[in-house]
Amino acid sequence: MLYRDQIERAAALIKQSTGFYSLTGAGLSTESGIPDFRTPGEGIWEKFDPIETSSVEVLKNNPRVFYESAFNRFASITMAEPNPGHYALARMEEMGLLKGLVTQNIDGLHVKAGSHKIWEVHGHLRSGYCQGCKKRYPFEELVQQVELKRIPPVCRNCFDVLRPDVVLFGDPMPPIFYEAEDTLRNNCDLMLAAGSSLVVYPVAYLPRLAKKLIIVNLRPTEYDHAAEVVIREKCSKVLDDLAEMLATG
Ligand code: APR
Repeated sequence: MLYRDQIERAAALIKQSTGFYSLTGAGLSTESGIPDFRTPGEGIWEKFDPIETSSVEVLKNNPRVFYESAFNRFASITMAEPNPGHYALARMEEMGLLKGLVTQNIDGLHVKAGSHKIWEVHGHLRSGYCQGCKKRYPFEELVQQVELKRIPPVCRNCFDVLRPDVVLFGDPMPPIFYEAEDTLRNNCDLMLAAGSSLVVYPVAYLPRLAKKLIIVNLRPTEYDHAAEVVIREKCSKVLDDLAEMLATG
């Protein structure tokens, strides 16, 4: 199918849907300068071991390793800006077409781009909390203490170690994951999965709740065979072209 035909097909599916949702992954933010996790030769997990650097275990048993590896990456992510793909999804919500957006990304770029109905199911980088007394802090507090070489950052109340509101390997899924799952199970007749390898459960289970699927991804996924349309192009281009067609079509 030619690219233009794929966009037209996707636009038609969106226009005739009554419960259109999107699921986004790291591939949507690579064009904002944030590397993804599994692209061969570029993905984060080729440089860092996820369990050795970004797990609850390493935060508990070796917080210095956590703050000198994973946390540095988190801090750099907060400087990124949305790309046309993020803005396109915000436009689809504004047009009343996109009912909600599940993202695995912690970069907050959907918020910056103006989307409202967002489930950040792997957490975010706007705040953190004390593991002891649970006192909450803005993310900047953790950044400032690390910049002052106070590693790991500690609570001003009880001096226990602080942590960001990101879902780490070994954490339970946050309540908003189950809220998103329920909403999709009861309402989703079309899902657009953009920039995700769809290999990390339980999020990778969510596309099964959609009656129909559109996939935008540079590499193959396990769900390609079940999708109405698979567009092997960059998210920013595809989503921007799609939003344009929906706005003018
Ligand atoms: N346009 C389209 N697809 C892209 C682009 C792009 N510009 N850049 C990368 N991709 C594709 C890659 O080919 C890859 O298949 O996006 C996908 C990203 O997959 P992953 O790197 O596995 O990222 P993601 O699916 O979000 O990972 C899920 O894994 O480690 C955990 O918590 C982490 O949230 C993350 C989860």
